[in-house]
Amino acid sequence: MCGIVGCVAKDTDIVPALVEGLRRVEYRGYDSAGVTVVADGALSSRKVAGKIAALQDRLEKHPIQGALGIAHTRWATHGEPSEVNAHPQLDCTGKIAVVHNGIVENYRALRKTLESKGHVFKSETDTEVLAHLFEEHYEGDIAEAVRKALARVQGAYGIAVVHADEPEVLVGARNGSPLVVGVDAGRNYVASDVAALIRHTRDVVYLDDLEMVVATPEGFSMTTLENEMITRDVERVTWNIDMIEKNGYPHFMLKEIFEQDRTVMDAVRGRLIELAGDAILGGLREHRRALNTARRMIILACGTSWHAGLIGEYMIEDLARIPVEVEYASEFRYRNPVIEPGDIVLVISQSGETSDTLAAMNEAHRRGAIALGIVNVVGSTIARQSDGGVYTHAGPEIGVASTKAFTSQLMVLSALALMLGRARDISVAEGRHIVGAMRELPRQIREILDTNDSIRDIARRYAHHSNFLYLGRGYNFPVALEGALKLKEISYVHAEGYPAAEMKHGPIALIDENMPVVVVAPKDEFYKKILSNMEEVKSRGGSIIAIVSESEGEVERLADDVIEIPNTMRHLTPILTVVPLQLLAYHIAVERKCDVDQPRNLAKSVTVE
Ligand code: AGP
Repeated sequence: MCGIVGCVAKDTDIVPALVEGLRRVEYRGYDSAGVTVVADGALSSRKVAGKIAALQDRLEKHPIQGALGIAHTRWATHGEPSEVNAHPQLDCTGKIAVVHNGIVENYRALRKTLESKGHVFKSETDTEVLAHLFEEHYEGDIAEAVRKALARVQGAYGIAVVHADEPEVLVGARNGSPLVVGVDAGRNYVASDVAALIRHTRDVVYLDDLEMVVATPEGFSMTTLENEMITRDVERVTWNIDMIEKNGYPHFMLKEIFEQDRTVMDAVRGRLIELAGDAILGGLREHRRALNTARRMIILACGTSWHAGLIGEYMIEDLARIPVEVEYASEFRYRNPVIEPGDIVLVISQSGETSDTLAAMNEAHRRGAIALGIVNVVGSTIARQSDGGVYTHAGPEIGVASTKAFTSQLMVLSALALMLGRARDISVAEGRHIVGAMRELPRQIREILDTNDSIRDIARRYAHHSNFLYLGRGYNFPVALEGALKLKEISYVHAEGYPAAEMKHGPIALIDENMPVVVVAPKDEFYKKILSNMEEVKSRGGSIIAIVSESEGEVERLADDVIEIPNTMRHLTPILTVVPLQLLAYHIAVERKCDVDQPRNLAKSVTVE
């Protein structure tokens, strides 16, 4: 997903706010940037194929100013990253400018029709079609032109639009890509992300799909695309800007790994009932009956959230004995899934904007399921379109590689499994034991974080390898998948996660001195079996990094490097075993001089198919 910032003001110095807003959403990943302002009946634009620093240089050399403007960071979907393809995109008259997140799925047909009417296109983008479409429908009212034009658009969009002849009108609209209004005295904003606004205002209003906003220096009005008036409360954002800054860490990712001793507790704060040995999840209150009688649950997610879903499956089946299926959202949405009446769909997403996950949720909804979200970003689309849900309260996760959001998802899933289990066969005593173990996790995570320097030293010894194998069993098989994904996505090193017992069915052929094997081996019921897997690796010359909760004896003999962590209840071990894997991936990526927070080819939130 890219970044959108628009501003309409009584003053004429909005460009610094537009650029600062883009900087706040840099983490979402982009490859070009641009800004357009309205002044004296004309548009002035500055655009670059590159980072915001290059845009700031351009603006210093060729400044522009105005009281109305829009800005954008683009993640290329149609047309290579270039100045001409950067947003804002203009119409033929050069009086209409638009910035756009999402994809216009019917842009080719629209472009053909518009070209047949004489419109001349300059870029390869789907977005430029919108500018010419607004021009086609413009009869002196840009809001009306946008409304009419969008009726012809298929696909996902979050847009901001200005017209040079309407210097006090900023138009925003959304369908499938987030847009939020920022309200301030003498200035009003639209943005794709609260983070872009928070330095200027904490008062925001979220748009829903097929809604649009018309903002002026004095205020704003919201309607549906059918022009029905909408009134919606202004919400107050509680984040502090320093939650978004790095707080002295070299990378957001390291900061977020080190926040986990706090965020795992934030995820269940006020939700664990010690005496009753139970959990209360307020966002699911109206669905308790459906949850307690559910015959099946389906978990939908992508990437790291999908790994959390796999662990959630083990937890819920273990503690509540409810059958759970975990589906890649991108597969589920297209495979004509079977949904029975009363099925519960759990939708896990950090951003709450992942296109595949949102579409899969809507498909499950359409077939009659109850959709409950486990989401981090407050006010995100999945959060607002689900039937209910639980926020993970991990705070803004800036690093593209998900870390604290993952452990917070596991905490919420653990609380959910406890709540469901206590409504079935889990006793008060067992519940109290689980709550007690969950309360120990912050201290235990701190113990692991204190070994960061030794994990960094281990990482440095392995950073030159090009392939890794990650092995785990039971609850820690998905942790092996997650550890491999972390390494892949930030260090560009090939890594595979496997159930340890599967090694003999193929991957063992890969083992030699060039293939380090990371083994997740806490002292659980699989410990002895995983020791024999380590023997198999050792006897083929493989090197082993072992994550263990007790390191004496056998492990020291078999593993080249041992990372010791505290032990906990088996269904909570992933919350501990994943932390060394996050640090291992981080330090290998740093050693390989990779862009840890904004890895190549990746975006923080994948809002396109
Ligand atoms: C995780 O480190 C990746 N950045 C990616 O796999 C991510 O988990 C996936 O895109 C899902 O994102 P979501 O949780 O915001 O839906």
